[in-house]
Amino acid sequence: MIALTFVTHDGNRVETLARAGTTVMEAARTANVPGILAECGGACACSTCHVYVDPNWLPKLDDADEMEADLLDFVWQPDAARSRLACQITLTDALAGLIVEVPANQG
Ligand code: FES
Repeated sequence: MIALTFVTHDGNRVETLARAGTTVMEAARTANVPGILAECGGACACSTCHVYVDPNWLPKLDDADEMEADLLDFVWQPDAARSRLACQITLTDALAGLIVEVPANQG
């Protein structure tokens, strides 16, 4: 299992465990993290699973593909460096300890 932490917009930390091969969005739903709506269920079609990746973890992530990057243009308060869609981050052992912040709004 892979440990990861969600930091909500009001500063609460939700620490959880998820299986390798699942996504950060799925981990958020399982852990009932507030603020991750994931309306399209992970199809990279809604952008309501927007998160800000902790800067220390950015080097461990693959770049967003074109489809994800296009959707990130439409999220509420995007951060060009740190914004990602949680459904497009698949958990691997290399991401054990990952920290992501949940925005106050999903637009
Ligand atoms: S859940 Fe819809 S884009 Fe991630």
